[in-house]
Amino acid sequence: MIDTSAPLTTEQVSTITRQTNYGTWRYQKGWKPLHIADAEDCWFTDGAGNAAPGYATTSRARLSAKLLEVLPKGIEKFFFATSGTEAVEAAFKIARMFTGKTKIISRYRSYHGSTMGSIAATGDPRRWAMEPAGKGAGVVFAPETNCYDCPIKHTYPGCNIACADYIEHMIRNESDVAAIIVEPVVGTNGVLVPPPEYFPRLREICDRHGVLLIDDEVMAGWGRTGKWFAMEHWNVKPDILTTAKGITSAYVPLSLCATTTKIANYFEDHYFSHGHTYEAHPLTLGPAVATIEEMQRLKLVERAAEMEPYVRQKLEALKAKHPSVGDVRGLGLFFAVEIVKNRATKQLFNTMRDKVEGKPLVVDQIAAKMMAQGVSIQAWVSHFVIAPPLIVTKEELDLGIAALDEHLAIADALVEA
Ligand SMILES: Cc1ncc(COP(=O)(O)O)c(C=O)c1O
Repeated sequence: MIDTSAPLTTEQVSTITRQTNYGTWRYQKGWKPLHIADAEDCWFTDGAGNAAPGYATTSRARLSAKLLEVLPKGIEKFFFATSGTEAVEAAFKIARMFTGKTKIISRYRSYHGSTMGSIAATGDPRRWAMEPAGKGAGVVFAPETNCYDCPIKHTYPGCNIACADYIEHMIRNESDVAAIIVEPVVGTNGVLVPPPEYFPRLREICDRHGVLLIDDEVMAGWGRTGKWFAMEHWNVKPDILTTAKGITSAYVPLSLCATTTKIANYFEDHYFSHGHTYEAHPLTLGPAVATIEEMQRLKLVERAAEMEPYVRQKLEALKAKHPSVGDVRGLGLFFAVEIVKNRATKQLFNTMRDKVEGKPLVVDQIAAKMMAQGVSIQAWVSHFVIAPPLIVTKEELDLGIAALDEHLAIADALVEA
């Protein structure tokens, strides 16, 4: 392990960058990134003091070394961009270049970004406006894993995880599948936590068919679920991990697409056809080092895990009290409260179509009432996502959940007898 608190030499900065980062638009073999130590007017100075870009910077090397401490073992080569969307785009391009295959499998209840490729892989209705012609080609959708309201009407555990097996059926029938992209715990679309067998089974299926597993941790990463990265809950190693948001505590725009060494090695003598002007911009990288150090100092990942039973118990109490609460689910400091008109049929108050047509949603009415009291909650179709800062205190949680408790009366009044 590299001591990231000690000053790094120019040689170290260049070597760490070369070993752990992708050099853009090039074969990786032969890349010797120059350490840029300073710049003024028309001149920049390298680490050896000479006046003289894939440049190396101290913050780039320092963050790369830090990432090796916290990312799942084996995820060791990095491409930095500025949004989760760009990290996902990079992941698709890398998967396609590496496998020589084209298709991407995604799942309906998902969000993976807003650009042509990432919106094409977004299962939720944000994709509809771009259909059919305005989105990247080659994405096919699998059913999500939703044990509360299974899209294929199975019941866990009797289902024997049919939703994973169906993905194998898709791979066989689609052929040409480069990768499957998953949110390990689905975020905006309902904090869907899969059963324990799901990801180990999916990993086996991917391995059997030479399909890469892309783990989109833009929302679920960085301690949110009580582990540094959510996929660790199931001891499953992805081939590519994408993340953003929490990497800098969202203070500055930074995202990461990280791959295994096996994928990295492929690009030693194959052209890495990807890059951005603001790739690995030093202004974005320093705050990520500070964020990780602060998370380690305050033990925020452990804290999210410790707070989980408290939040769960408070939200379960809401479910016991309010007939409109159909389900409560989550991990760490990442929960959903789903509201329904009818608990028996699980009929939601609003549909995805209501959302895209701009109809008034019951969840939005409740969220507006909460906001008027100073409590912000994310509302989506017919559920709330509860994802407070990891430093939240029990008193602050009580305050937020009390506001939800009060205004759930709006939904209770609309429940069908
Ligand atoms: C799981 C997931 N992937 C990708 C994205 C896209 O990230 P960004 O909005 O930074 O482009 C998001 C954004 O919320 C997300 O939640």
